Amino acid sequence: MKVLVIYHNKGGVGKTTTVVNLAAALSKKGKKVLVIDLDSQANTTFAAGLVKFQYDLNDTLKDNYIYQVIASRNDYSISAVTQKSEFTKPPFDVVPSHIDLMEHEQELIQQPQALTRILKKLVDVRSQYDVVLIDTPPSLNLYARIALITADYLLIPSDLRPFANEGLRNVRRFVNDVNEFRDSIRKEPIEILGVIASKLGTTAKFQEYTLPRMIEIVEEHYGFPVLNSKIFERRETSKAIERTTEVGDLIIPDPISILDHAPKSSAAKEFDKLAQEVMQLIQI
Ligand SMILES: Nc1ncnc2c1ncn2[C@@H]1O[C@H](COP(=O)(O)OP(=O)(O)OP(=O)(O)O)[C@@H](O)[C@H]1O
Ligand SMILES: [Mg+2]
Repeated sequence: MKVLVIYHNKGGVGKTTTVVNLAAALSKKGKKVLVIDLDSQANTTFAAGLVKFQYDLNDTLKDNYIYQVIASRNDYSISAVTQKSEFTKPPFDVVPSHIDLMEHEQELIQQPQALTRILKKLVDVRSQYDVVLIDTPPSLNLYARIALITADYLLIPSDLRPFANEGLRNVRRFVNDVNEFRDSIRKEPIEILGVIASKLGTTAKFQEYTLPRMIEIVEEHYGFPVLNSKIFERRETSKAIERTTEVGDLIIPDPISILDHAPKSSAAKEFDKLAQEVMQLIQI
């Protein structure tokens, strides 16, 4: 079982979109996939279709999400809080997040053991999954730290624009800091797979002239490898995630992966290609 964290401290660069559609593409290739949502925005949880209630009174997630896994030593195994997502076929598993995760941060910072609880609890499910994908918040907070401590590999979605690039310096510093901690628990440094260019413009001019230069800057100036696969900004990708369905007079979120929504689309092919590249890089 290989654990891959999808992280960038810049917001809105496509982390969540990458996590859920890469999970779908890997699942379609016959891999057993677990997704862990470590972002209190819970966008992955939402995209995975796990927020089924319309009213907060019916919130069934609050007592069974990633917080309980991190906060307790012996209770709340990974399996205890895992749910099946119908975002794609075959389905993958998800450990959900919740907006309340944010307000537990200060309390968890007081418990150094909280840093390694997910890592330890994942041992119990290692024969059930080929790969674990962790979604992270756009920050340098405790949950991002836990994700980077837990993972074997780091994938960095980026739109390659100036602020995202400047953010790569923070990512580098954060990784170095986490590696020092990993060393103290005798865990090898996290392996950086590289930057996955994401939300890219689709005009021919951009692809021909601007994009190669942007990639060069990331590789030469910031020292991160850039993957061969590329994810372009495509309306159907976001539309599929935002899909809804009507049940009686209620409008219910009904998100679906781009690979199920439009299997022959360029967008679906891009995520399929990314899955192939990731499988090769992490050898699953
Ligand atoms: N390839 C894409 N094509 C079209 N829209 C995209 C694509 N990737 C992301 N988006 C859109 O961009 C917005 C941000 O994407 P996403 O939520 O994946 O980013 P994020 O890095 O997870 O954000 P945050 O830092 O807030 O967690 C969303 O509205 C999403 O639908
Ligand atoms: Mg996100």
